[in-house]
Amino acid sequence: MEKKYKKIGVLTSGGDAPGMNAVIRAVVRMASTNGIEVIGINKGYSGLFNKDFKPLTAKSVCDIISRGGTILKTARCMEMMSLEGQIEAATVCKDLDIDTLVVIGGDGSLTGGLKLKEQGINIIGIPGTIDLDLKCSEYTIGFDTAVNTAVEAIDRLRDTSSSHERCSIVEVMGRRAGHIAVWSGVAGGADDVIIHEEGDVDIEELASKIRKNRLKGKEHNLIIVCEGMLDSQKLAEELEQRTGVVTRATILGHLQRGGRPTALDRVIASRMGRKAVELFMEDKKNVIVIYKSGNINFIDLEKGINFENKYRGRLTETVRILSL
Ligand code: ADP
Ligand code: F6P
Repeated sequence: MEKKYKKIGVLTSGGDAPGMNAVIRAVVRMASTNGIEVIGINKGYSGLFNKDFKPLTAKSVCDIISRGGTILKTARCMEMMSLEGQIEAATVCKDLDIDTLVVIGGDGSLTGGLKLKEQGINIIGIPGTIDLDLKCSEYTIGFDTAVNTAVEAIDRLRDTSSSHERCSIVEVMGRRAGHIAVWSGVAGGADDVIIHEEGDVDIEELASKIRKNRLKGKEHNLIIVCEGMLDSQKLAEELEQRTGVVTRATILGHLQRGGRPTALDRVIASRMGRKAVELFMEDKKNVIVIYKSGNINFIDLEKGINFENKYRGRLTETVRILSL
């Protein structure tokens, strides 16, 4: 009897995120259990243009659940930004004879998926980014590991900052989303956080907060800054000038993207990977697997990409209320 489901392609795209390997493993194992062939596309969408593919079997994903990064490599692929590129990539998918392309990545990568959908390719998206900036999903794979890495670094900075009675400025990633900043601000016991969602920063207000907290007995301070908000080094100099407190800036950078995924990232990745293949077997087309209220669910691809949700700021408020 001819099999109903045949072949899926899978790629990881955009910035890598811890847990991407766990989701690749889940997709491949769930597929192979159900007689579905999997083709891994290397280096994000670039693999389509370079015809860089490899078959993935249950065995080829052994020993990857605990590894950071992505065995499929990832890339930012400029060819996908033009209509000609999208047509070419879709033609390669058709030549490969894949029934669905599973795209693991952030909002950019899933937007690339939407462009391929417009060229007749079936897409199932899985949110994979440390930034937690895919608004349709309450979780994106990699976030928990990145926050834990940031908090571990912040704890170390707290030790030295406290010994020297200094102020530490810590710049974290997140692109334009403040989730890593706010979560590590709460977990790291920060005085304040500076995030895009709240707009421009009033540096005098920040300096005044540091001065007030010192008067209340605080011996060191910690400010978390989301990347791209301002120059952290300059902020340190300016705050030091205004407060008289020795201030140092640390940019955590790409170390937030590496490392062994936490159990939470592995579990959600495994659940999302399984769900993606279940959706494929149910003949669902052009959807994004999402995390909502503790459940793994799905949303229409286009709706998911255009999803809006308001910044509420309760967690940011928590940082401030608890700072002293
Ligand atoms: P992320 O997926 O983490 O948000 P990027 O925004 O860098 O990362 O996007 C990753 C890749 O997805 C891009 O290099 C490009 O190949 C593809 N992509 C992003 N935006 C678009 C778009 N508007 N149209 C087509 N492809 C896109
Ligand atoms: O999207 C993940 C992310 O790490 C962002 O937090 C950051 O802005 C960006 O990627 C950095 O990209 P690159 O690795 O190209 O410097």
